[in-house]
This record gives sequence, structure tokens and C-alpha cells, in this order.
Amino acid sequence: MEEEVTEKLHAVENDGGPDAYKSWAKDYDEQMIKIGLQSPQSIISKWMEQYSPESLQTQAASGRKHRILDAGCGTGLVGEYMGTVFPMDNVELYGGDITPEMIEQAKMKKNTGYMDFKIINLKKELPYEEEFFDSVITCGVFLVGHCGPDCLPNIFRVLKKGGLLVTSSRKAFYEETKEGWDKHIKECNCTLLEVCDIPYHTLAKGISLVIKKN
Ligand SMILES: C[S@@+](CC[C@H](N)C(=O)[O-])C[C@H]1O[C@@H](n2cnc3c(N)ncnc32)[C@H](O)[C@@H]1O
Repeated sequence: MEEEVTEKLHAVENDGGPDAYKSWAKDYDEQMIKIGLQSPQSIISKWMEQYSPESLQTQAASGRKHRILDAGCGTGLVGEYMGTVFPMDNVELYGGDITPEMIEQAKMKKNTGYMDFKIINLKKELPYEEEFFDSVITCGVFLVGHCGPDCLPNIFRVLKKGGLLVTSSRKAFYEETKEGWDKHIKECNCTLLEVCDIPYHTLAKGISLVIKKN
């Protein structure tokens, strides 16, 4: 089975767009379990180091719930896990992905916490107002054949000042593209707060980055 997943991973490393994920959507979760996928849990743990139920309750009491974009939400594993470890009453979780079939899988799940799904392409301007989100999460999207640091300005546009992007990347990919990350972070007046290793899956090493929009 691991060989089958390795083949799929190689295929999406060549082309991580909708054509590749369309045929993977139905089996994706099952195959990810088989390779011990841990990145959704790791990213939510990182996000929870920055945001507590109490801090979001205070924000909600002042009139508006904390809006999060899960960019490249796929089948919704991030929202599914988040709903099990974080009270979602004071959160509005939006899911966006380029592959309609992946979003369809996410929509079928119960108790994922998502209140909205959209088809988005991180390589283009995103269909949300400027500074719409309090924080953005991306998990498993910054890797070969998918998105590179040139997508960062599109994310930062929809993030509020003071908001955080909490993202994963394949470790090797980040190291190869670091110059691009540094450039876009600087040009968009953002600050890289943290880079650290995270549990990812058995076939690759992962890191998380926490980036603040100033
Ligand atoms: C490895 S999956 C990760 C899905 C989910 N975040 C997870 O952790 O299970 C990568 C996802 O990125 C999406 N994707 C690839 N390129 C994209 C782009 N340019 N804009 C938005 N989503 C994209 C794919 O459709 C796929 O659902």
C-alpha cells in the first residue's frame, strides 16, 4: 500500500493541480492514514500556541468571531481535527481549494467546523476582501509541484494586520526556495516569527512557519 501512495505522491509532485487531485480525492484520507499523516495535527497545535479559546472568546465578545482561512483545505482534515481539539463557537473557519472533488469530500464530513467553502487558486488573487481573515492556515500546500513562495502575497492580501499565517512546508522544499520566502515576507511587510520541524508523514520531513503581517 505504501508503494501505491508513493506513486500518487510522485504524480502530484509533478502536477499538484486539480487534474491530479481529482482522481485521488476519494482515497486520499485512507491513504494518508497509511503513511501516518500528522501535519494537520501539527499545524493546529502550532496555531493553538498562538490562539487560545479565551483570547477568541474575548474577540467574539467585542463583536466579531475570529475568521480563519484553511487555504488548500483538500478533504478537510485540518478542520476535522480542529473541531476535536478547539471549541469552534468563536471561530469562523473558511475552506478553499483548487480541486472541486477534494472540497466535495470535505463537504460530506460532519462536524468539521467549516462554515464556507470556495474554489480558490493561491497563484491568483483570492476571492475574499482585503484583510478579511484574522489568521490563515495552510497544510501540505507548499511543496514541489504545488505552491511556492510566490503565492504568499495573495495570502497576505487577505490577512489582517497583526494576523498570522501558520503554514507547513516540506523541509527540503523550504530550504530550496528560502530566498523567495524571505523576499515576499519582507516585501509584504511581514515578519517570520518561527520556523521549526514538525511531525509530517513517514515519507517526508516537514516544517512549520509562523509569519506575522505587520
Ligand atoms: C497534499 S493536499 C493537502 C490537503 C490538506 N490541506 C491536508 O492537509 O490534507 C494539497 C492540496 O492543495 C491543493 N492545491 C494545489 N495547488 C493549489 C493552488 N494553486 N491553490 C489552491 N489549492 C491548491 C490541492 O488541490 C490539494 O487539495
